[in-house]
Amino acid sequence: MIMKQYIIKGGNPLYGEVNIGGAKNAALGIIVAAIMANEPVTIENLPDVDDVKVLLEAIEGIGAIVERLDRHTVRINGALINDVNVDDDFIRKIRGSYYLVGALLGKYKKAIVALPGGCQIGSRPIDQHLKGFEQLGARVTIHNGKIDAFAERLTGSHIYLDCPSVGATINIMMASCMAEGKTVIENPAKEPHIVDVANFLNSMGANIKGAGTDTIRIRGVESLHGSEYSIIPDQIEAGTYMIAAAATGGDVYIKNVIPKHLEAITAKLIEIGSKVEEYDDCVRVYSDKRLGYANVKTMPYPGFPTDMQPQMTTLLALSEGVSIVTETIFESRLKYISELRRMGANINVEGNAAIITGVEQFTGATVSAPDLRAGAALVIAGLAAQGFTVVEQIHYIERGYENFEEKLRGLGAVIEKMDADDERAQQKFRLKVG
Ligand code: UD1
Repeated sequence: MIMKQYIIKGGNPLYGEVNIGGAKNAALGIIVAAIMANEPVTIENLPDVDDVKVLLEAIEGIGAIVERLDRHTVRINGALINDVNVDDDFIRKIRGSYYLVGALLGKYKKAIVALPGGCQIGSRPIDQHLKGFEQLGARVTIHNGKIDAFAERLTGSHIYLDCPSVGATINIMMASCMAEGKTVIENPAKEPHIVDVANFLNSMGANIKGAGTDTIRIRGVESLHGSEYSIIPDQIEAGTYMIAAAATGGDVYIKNVIPKHLEAITAKLIEIGSKVEEYDDCVRVYSDKRLGYANVKTMPYPGFPTDMQPQMTTLLALSEGVSIVTETIFESRLKYISELRRMGANINVEGNAAIITGVEQFTGATVSAPDLRAGAALVIAGLAAQGFTVVEQIHYIERGYENFEEKLRGLGAVIEKMDADDERAQQKFRLKVG
């Protein structure tokens, strides 16, 4: 496989409008939940990103019928699933693969699924998922890199999560929605995509109440039926463009969003002096002066999302004053900072905190995306920097951002995707835009 990279000529403020797609992390839960019905399910507003493609191939591999009706609509029918064993090179790379355990266990009382991968941002245990399955009556073992879950019968239970895990909450909702009796999840995650997956399961006939609050109650039903559903907008994609607008001193309307889901990001932008206007399904971000400092701590929703931490750190590194960003969700999510330093950022890392002294400007450099969101942050850094930036390893970014470079170009960014070893194309770009 030829590696791709972005080449960016920085310094252009972003102007205009950008449309946000469906939420990737909701889509991963919803695609898998769809196989629990024995009737066709139509899912709209599906983001066309690599993680989604991998998951669709995985469910096709075990017998689900997957029809792409258009780029953002898929019809899934789980009636003919003939295998509960999911393992391939690709599925091991994505995080959302663990939802297959909850869905297959819930529907067939058996699942064997490769342990999940995803971004290398910490140890990412799944003990809360496994505890939940066990409390519903499953026997769970891990061997040869696979989760093996089996149950004679699943019965409702009272499950207390030690930490509000997004993955565990969705997985337990799926495993329990066809269990006998009532399940209660205490201390669940409350992210917008938890609510979206619950709404989707309910649209198939599940009985889930309280998603988005501190207690979720699930009454088991016999079976799930077909449905038509549209995925919510991607909070993190929207937030990334909000920060890109602020970091370049531009003026951008970010459309097809739910402003309420963006409140933590909006509040921080306003705190540092950016202007944010909220409309029904759009936010406008612009500023007329250099932005200031703030302290940020990542927290479960409705706190500041860890998936926006690298982008926010990048913005604060260009703002005036000293800011402290503390990462509380994942243990090693500050590794990209060494890349930002190559562009002139002045950031010290102490434990899980980044102490940032804002600089006037970054200068272009060759940097490497270490994961999905940090990769997006490096692109933002390149857009704001003086001169040329090359961002390598962009396959991480393509896991979660649809048409990233095209959408940015639509806002006036000078960015192109090219083969990593194509030096002539790089030269041509530099001459053309130089
Ligand atoms: C999901 C998102 C990811 C986001 C994260 C936090 C998907 C596919 N990924 O990841 O983009 O960054 O939520 O918003 O939706 N934990 C345990 N035991 C468990 C599960 C989690 O200790 O069994 C801990 C984790 O180490 C972490 C915290 O709980 O410190 C949150 O993890 P979790 O919410 O589960 O994240 P993911 O579902 O992996």
